Amino acid sequence: MSSDDFKMSAAKAALDLIEDGMKVGLGTGSTAAMFIDLLGERVKDGLDVVCVPTSKASEVQARGLGIDLTTLDEEPFLDVTVDGADELDTELRLIKGGGGALLREKIVAMASERMIVIGDESKVVDQLGRFPLPIEVEGFGLRSTYEMISVLALELELKQALQVRELPNGEFYKTDGGHFIIDCHFEAIPDPEELSDCLSMIPGVIETGLFLGIAERAIIGGPEGIVVYEEPQDEVEV
Ligand code: 5RP
Repeated sequence: MSSDDFKMSAAKAALDLIEDGMKVGLGTGSTAAMFIDLLGERVKDGLDVVCVPTSKASEVQARGLGIDLTTLDEEPFLDVTVDGADELDTELRLIKGGGGALLREKIVAMASERMIVIGDESKVVDQLGRFPLPIEVEGFGLRSTYEMISVLALELELKQALQVRELPNGEFYKTDGGHFIIDCHFEAIPDPEELSDCLSMIPGVIETGLFLGIAERAIIGGPEGIVVYEEPQDEVEV
């Protein structure tokens, strides 16, 4: 079986959580696209859901499948978002944004009562950081923001190999919102919370691909079947 088969099995398992009447956030990327395809089949069979896509690509796909779409302006709170991830650890901390949709993905996930991550087992890591962390930045002052991230990385003793994301033709990649992405090849992020807090102090940083304390569950497909990771629960004194 291939990693696509594992992604598909995770997407199928997530589909079982979708019920009539739900408001659903649709993620971006190859795994989310599998989920959207499966959801489209259920909609054709009569499932009644309304969805908010996290990117133009997911919007076009969902629309083509006849899935009823809305916006967060119409429906500011959703029941569930199903999305992929580039990396996740067993505490359900994620790196997202490989597909460039991290800002809208985070807005939609945070507007949802539950965020369910789907993926194949290659996404699960002991420590985040092997996958370059995408940071969405404002175009104004791009060079300054780049340098500030670089200085921060130095202070936090992270490897500093930053790259403004480019298209194959050499132009800078732009997100659906018209911003730029700096991919940070840190290799290892020992303290994701500290890094996230520090990055948010840099004014040109619009959002980072670190999703911390957002996902409730990850459904991961692998050769042994599905493994489910749950968000760590706070200890309750009794
Ligand atoms: C897009 C994302 C995707 O969820 C992430 O890149 C995973 O993609 P795939 O399912 O293709 O592996 O964050 O911005």
